[in-house]
Amino acid sequence: MVTSPPYNLGIGKFKASGRYKGDNWFAKVASNAYPDSMPEADYQDWQRRFLELLHGIVRDGASVFYNHKIRHSKLEAISPMLWLPGPFKFRQEIIWKRPGSVAQNARMFIPCTERIYWLYKGDNFTFNNRPETKGLSDVWEIAPVKNTHPAPFPPELPRRCIEACSRRGDVVYDPFAGSGSTIIAAEIMNRNCLAMEIDPSFCDQAIIRWQRETKQAAVLEGTKKTYAQVSRESLRSKRSKGGNED
Ligand SMILES: C[S@@+](CC[C@H](N)C(=O)[O-])C[C@H]1O[C@@H](n2cnc3c(N)ncnc32)[C@H](O)[C@@H]1O
Repeated sequence: MVTSPPYNLGIGKFKASGRYKGDNWFAKVASNAYPDSMPEADYQDWQRRFLELLHGIVRDGASVFYNHKIRHSKLEAISPMLWLPGPFKFRQEIIWKRPGSVAQNARMFIPCTERIYWLYKGDNFTFNNRPETKGLSDVWEIAPVKNTHPAPFPPELPRRCIEACSRRGDVVYDPFAGSGSTIIAAEIMNRNCLAMEIDPSFCDQAIIRWQRETKQAAVLEGTKKTYAQVSRESLRSKRSKGGNED
């Protein structure tokens, strides 16, 4: 699994500030973002429960790459290690060094890293011992990408995880798929991907992105209908009910 869950940052409430002020991209995409705002204790319990459920469904030897970051609230840092590794074993912490990050808090050094926690289930894990994998350090300097999702990771990030710890034809899972970066990475690496996303507009975005990258038409499973057909039908049905087309 490779995923980046919501960070509980209240992302929809952000206004661009500081070095992001002139860049209205973040304010624009964050204004229609998921709420991402719950009491911190509930959020951590949710993530603990999520890891327990995940542990129940993945096979022994499966790796989990969990992208998160150190957040800051009430003059203290909150590390994801407060709820990790759950029932998994903890293999390694990888630093994702990005050129900048949204500074939530004054009176501190500008955070410009995120973390990728590598966990695994059972007594061992797959690690492809090829030069392109074992030559990587635990600091990954990868430029962020911008799309219409407020918090995408660049496909190169899941691609490295997938390349290192799975084999051709394996299944990769991303339960918080957002704009579908993991789906794209799995495609590049010839893996099958199962993805979930709660927000229908991000699902649309992920499908459109997949179609653009693969030059194929997405088909709704169990039917022969393409995404374009399903979208047209859904639009027609909304119109006939007099509903909002958004
Ligand atoms: C940090 S973003 C993931 C971004 C993704 N890695 C990408 O590159 O676009 C987290 C995603 O989780 C989704 N999400 C939040 N709660 C969810 C839930 N209960 N089930 C599935 N997806 C959920 C949000 O809508 C959001 O798109």
